[in-house]
Amino acid sequence: MAVNFNNAAEAKHVCYLAGTGGGKTTAVKLLNLVGDQVAIFDLYGDYQFDGRKKSPFNGLGGRTVYHFNKRSDFARAFTQAWSSGKKFVLAYQPTFSPILKGSQLKDARVAELHWFGQLMWTAADGNRELHVIIEELAKLASTAGKDETIIGELATGGRKFGLVLHTIFQRSQEVPKTIWNNSPRKVLGAQESTHDAKLIANELDAELSDVKRLSQLNERFKKQRLYYLFKSGGGIGNIAPYYICTDNKNKYFGHKYEITFDELRKIEVNTL
Ligand SMILES: Nc1ncnc2c1ncn2[C@@H]1O[C@H](COP(=O)(O)OP(=O)(O)OP(=O)(O)O)[C@@H](O)[C@H]1O
Ligand SMILES: [Mg+2]
Repeated sequence: MAVNFNNAAEAKHVCYLAGTGGGKTTAVKLLNLVGDQVAIFDLYGDYQFDGRKKSPFNGLGGRTVYHFNKRSDFARAFTQAWSSGKKFVLAYQPTFSPILKGSQLKDARVAELHWFGQLMWTAADGNRELHVIIEELAKLASTAGKDETIIGELATGGRKFGLVLHTIFQRSQEVPKTIWNNSPRKVLGAQESTHDAKLIANELDAELSDVKRLSQLNERFKKQRLYYLFKSGGGIGNIAPYYICTDNKNKYFGHKYEITFDELRKIEVNTL
């Protein structure tokens, strides 16, 4: 059970939303919204760390990430790291028998996610922040409505116990309402269709033309920059455009920049 109930804790959960390859994982790694003590449910190994590489994409934005495949190993390492009070990034990447397919595989993945969620809930402490990252949650959620699982609980009750949940999705329709409504911060990357862009512009109270522009700019500047809209708090407004430099020849590779809407709207989309 979580300890040190703290009703004054700010709601800081973040949803990251973009189409395939739209920059979700990059935003988690490089927008610096993730704090010092971090646990990742890394089903696909997106946060693998290789000590020989010097890239901001390595691990979590260059931070060392330790991966564990077994529950017992992850739980032991996590308990030790969390009680040390030091900075850490640990990832749980469960492995599954190759004979599992379809719904059996999904059920097995969901069981691992819920085990992980339960561990996070037990560890949560209202006196300090624990950042929890869950990639592609929609693939493991059975409903886009009310999330009554432990993950829904992390979103609703977690705030008062210092949990900051970072969840990643491809489109707004697939985000469980419990997660969406309890995540005041949102990061929006390139969308895949006008339909998705319209829905999200509406949900975020952003201009549709700005949302479409992100997608066009990301196409235009493929190997150089990724553009985002970042909503930094609840309520209406509080939205600003950002970009991350993804050009590995640029000395600012991996840096993020806030820009104004005027600047975003002035960038030429079509000239090559
Ligand atoms: N290691 C890297 N070095 C340079 N650029 C990278 C690297 N990894 C990703 N990128 C850039 O980020 C873009 C988006 O990739 P990212 O993995 O963040 O997208 P995503 O939305 O998480 O995709 P997916 O739906 O596949 O999970 C890539 O097209 C590329 O421009
Ligand atoms: Mg990704």
